[in-house]
Amino acid sequence: MVATMDSAGLTALAEKTRTVQGSALRDMLALVMRPDLQSFALGLPAPELLPLADCRAAAAQVLAGDPEALQYHLPCESLKSHLRQLLATRGIDCTEKQIFLTTGAQQATHLVANFLLSPGQQVIMEEVTYEGLHLAIQPLNPEPLIVPTDPETGIDIDAVEEQLERGASPAFIYTITDGHNPLGRSLSVEARIRLVELARRFRTPIVEDDVFGFLNYDGPASPPMRSLDDEWVFYIGSFSKILAPSLRVGWIVVPAALQQALSSLKQASDLDITTLGHLTAAAYLDAGHLPAHLATIRSEYRRRRDAMVRALEANFPSAARWSTPSCGMFVWVELPGEVDTGELLRAAVESESVAFMPGDIFAIPGLPRSRNGMRLNFTHSRVEDIEEGIARLAKVLRKFLHRDFSC
Ligand SMILES: Cc1ncc(COP(=O)(O)O)c(C=O)c1O
Repeated sequence: MVATMDSAGLTALAEKTRTVQGSALRDMLALVMRPDLQSFALGLPAPELLPLADCRAAAAQVLAGDPEALQYHLPCESLKSHLRQLLATRGIDCTEKQIFLTTGAQQATHLVANFLLSPGQQVIMEEVTYEGLHLAIQPLNPEPLIVPTDPETGIDIDAVEEQLERGASPAFIYTITDGHNPLGRSLSVEARIRLVELARRFRTPIVEDDVFGFLNYDGPASPPMRSLDDEWVFYIGSFSKILAPSLRVGWIVVPAALQQALSSLKQASDLDITTLGHLTAAAYLDAGHLPAHLATIRSEYRRRRDAMVRALEANFPSAARWSTPSCGMFVWVELPGEVDTGELLRAAVESESVAFMPGDIFAIPGLPRSRNGMRLNFTHSRVEDIEEGIARLAKVLRKFLHRDFSC
């Protein structure tokens, strides 16, 4: 007999479909991925700096030397051991048993969210944050407790404290400690300490997303919150921004006792790690290439960041505001309040073939938005393209402001 779905089932399915909203990011991708564009839209590494030759050698070595390389695999222990050493350079003291390997940081975010969050539960998050978090939690229909966030100082810790003191019981607090996506800012040491104290006092986990912490440009980044607490901080990292996104190496540092539960959750949708990618990453690390690669990309990305800030200073109206990020891939620009950057994006693509990410993408769907914000990526484009592209964007913006003022 063929099972049929009754109308209650269909209604439930329709409701589920409604909550799993199409990714605005993906819609926007269609617009910003046109190959003829000068795009500052996506958080991509510089293509010419991806370590192709060293990864080719590492992959060849794996395929030649490991007969199990194409087989289902257990998580790669030597990769965990390298990660433990890498994380120690940022002050994180953990064991291999506390490192849970994932298929990129996005899967890590999805897993942690599903592990900590029950349907309908509260989550403390910034009013503007990484769009992938929205995607990870949306199917669980959470109650977002939105706290303000400042492009200079980051998540408003007083507001977090107020929510918790008022009796909120969120499943977790999510934040991006360094090189915030999309704001570019890094949290002060004092803010990290206060947030960890709140997590302990109110027994509320922090999900610390640190995919940009190794891309530091002005001296060492401050130690992540995980270095201050090994009980309440779930720490997420990735090689996507510092080595190669297609290797799909991500990780979560969690108490060892939680590994089994996370593993069961992961197996429900993903039976294996990305074995070939993870083994290749481990062979690359065995060969000792990462420190030199990190030095190269930090130095080149610093040059690109400085070029972008200089180009903004030279071309953008004085009413626009931005800050210089000390980590990560993005400069966040706030335009005069009347500018809708979604509309500006369409004009910029049409008339000057330039793209960026409008602020709305990073706001909670249906809640107060960051309509006049724009996220500009500085790592993917060469200095001369940054200079030229920002000048073209400024040209569209001037026309746009003139049109708006003349209405
Ligand atoms: C803050 C943040 N977290 C996680 C991710 C996902 O990274 P991955 O490629 O490792 O899945 C991104 C990707 O841009 C990101 O910006």
